[in-house]
Amino acid sequence: MPGRCVTTLHRVSELPAAVRLVDGSNGPVVEIDHAAARGTIHLHGAHLTSWLPTGLGEQLWLSPESLYGPDAAIRGGVPICFPWFAKGPGDWEPQHGFARRLPWHLHSASEDSNGVTVRLRLTDADVAADVLGRERWPYPFELEYVVGLGRELGIDLTVSNIGIEPFPIGGALHTYLRVPDITGVSLLGLEGAPYHDKVTETAQQQQGSVGFSGETDRVYASTEPVLVRDGTIDRVQVRGSDASHTVVWNPWQGKAATMADMSDDGWQQMLCIEAAVPHESMVELPPGHRWHLGQRITPASVAGGTNVGPGSR
Ligand code: BG6
Repeated sequence: MPGRCVTTLHRVSELPAAVRLVDGSNGPVVEIDHAAARGTIHLHGAHLTSWLPTGLGEQLWLSPESLYGPDAAIRGGVPICFPWFAKGPGDWEPQHGFARRLPWHLHSASEDSNGVTVRLRLTDADVAADVLGRERWPYPFELEYVVGLGRELGIDLTVSNIGIEPFPIGGALHTYLRVPDITGVSLLGLEGAPYHDKVTETAQQQQGSVGFSGETDRVYASTEPVLVRDGTIDRVQVRGSDASHTVVWNPWQGKAATMADMSDDGWQQMLCIEAAVPHESMVELPPGHRWHLGQRITPASVAGGTNVGPGSR
């Protein structure tokens, strides 16, 4: 990795015992080893790449074929899509914005009995003038990303407008969940929700639970909690906060075969459930104001197995 990845921590000794910053083969990585959970966050993209609640195993899918170089977007984990989701208004490039392709700063970390909280930051000063997309979005900003990692996962992205003019803002927390077999997965909580089907480019309405039998790329106009069921077993509940939409994505066999950073069978064990604000819901953020997007993931066994169904909060 080039030397652009840095931490704003003055001394490694400022980190709590459960948190280490290491130079990994794919760049600087925050390693978390706590009684409640283990995990890793690559500073490149502030990208959460692993979350293992104790006793429950890996919850996130990460492609073994992922790219990690400068300007690359890691395939899997939790990409941060900012300041727009997909192609922005007017087909803005790059897809999903520039924040996932840049090195972030580790700002601070703390721990308590529930787990670890890691704060990462990115500002406009970190965005080189030649970064693709910057000319579309030249505004002064401060981004803070807070990862609360324990038996539950909480991720919170907050942007502050520190300039003198409003700017348009949207994005997504593009979480890749690990599933045993996508064909056995169903999602509860989206029943009746209208959605845009990006595969057929049609407007649809969800009938019953969501099942998977082909390429799935849907932008649901719903922010209800989504329960991921594997066969008859409840796995996790996913809740967005301050999102306008929920995106559900699996590329299936045909599209995965065209992706250089996913193996031909990688699609079988992954499912993206994203807290999103797509371009039709982007907001203008006035100077001095903040905007937030979050997601909570709760394993069913952590919630007691019975109270994580759709509608519970
Ligand atoms: C999803 C989009 O959010 O991300 C899909 O709805 C897209 O259309 C997918 O294919 C992956 O995007 P990328 O840029 O990471 O390949």
